[in-house]
Amino acid sequence: MQSLNAKVIAVTGGASGIGRATVIEALSQGANVLAGDMNGVALKALADETENLAGRLHTVEMNATSPEDVTDYVAGGVQEFGRIDGLLVSAGITRGAPILEMSHEDWHFVLDVNLSGAFSVMQAVARQMVAQGDGGSIVAITSDLAITGQVGGGNYVASKGGLISLVKTFALELGRRQIRANTIAPGATDTPLLQVTAPQEFIDDWVQHAPLGRLGDPRDHAEMASFLLSDASAWITGQTFPVNGGSVMP
Ligand SMILES: NC(=O)c1ccc[n+]([C@@H]2O[C@H](COP(=O)([O-])OP(=O)(O)OC[C@H]3O[C@@H](n4cnc5c(N)ncnc54)[C@H](O)[C@@H]3O)[C@@H](O)[C@H]2O)c1
Repeated sequence: MQSLNAKVIAVTGGASGIGRATVIEALSQGANVLAGDMNGVALKALADETENLAGRLHTVEMNATSPEDVTDYVAGGVQEFGRIDGLLVSAGITRGAPILEMSHEDWHFVLDVNLSGAFSVMQAVARQMVAQGDGGSIVAITSDLAITGQVGGGNYVASKGGLISLVKTFALELGRRQIRANTIAPGATDTPLLQVTAPQEFIDDWVQHAPLGRLGDPRDHAEMASFLLSDASAWITGQTFPVNGGSVMP
């Protein structure tokens, strides 16, 4: 089994949920990790918790919607570790409303983080990978809701559907440079994002109908992200992987 040992892995949204679980998994496999997040307090907690691995963890407080922050994030990682081999884009938010009531502010707020922010980070890291000249792997977290749609989440599902199309274009344009790009489409997963935004009745109903009968654990996605970031997936690009307990079967 190939691992992330000695690779340099960048993770946005690395302070919480799926991103955080991937940071910890990558560190445990021997990677150097560049964890970016806008939540400085949670980043500090992550650094404290992984104290014995601190030499391999570099944390950066950054806002993915700021091109300057993104430039500094990538440059800082290269300065710290010399290169970037893999990127997980996990930074994401939700702020829903029914279509007829959705404000343009809410529309842009979600698109800016989930799609434009993802584009900025993926472009900056891809440019670094091209300069390195020996390939790389980009993984972005989309959602199974991009496939099903979601009542009250028009901006969120549009951002996640757009991300799937964008990642396919990265795969097409960068494949000949051996830079791969894939997405993971989680089902409902037990993270602060779900806890804060989903009513308990929704969660109970979701679990009841899911074939595997439980919510996702952030580590379920960290396992898939690690595989896609490793050389074990060297011939996989442009794909979307549902990790959802069977809740959606595309
Ligand atoms: N939890 C679920 O059920 C679920 C399901 C499908 C998809 N997802 C997606 O998975 C990804 C991770 O979500 P999670 O559930 O781990 O949520 P989370 O809230 O636990 O983690 C998201 C992290 O992203 C950070 N972040 C948000 N906006 C940012 C910005 N502009 N710049 C930098 N960092 C920013 C937050 O500070 C947070 O630490 C998101 O893209 C989300 O849409 C989650």
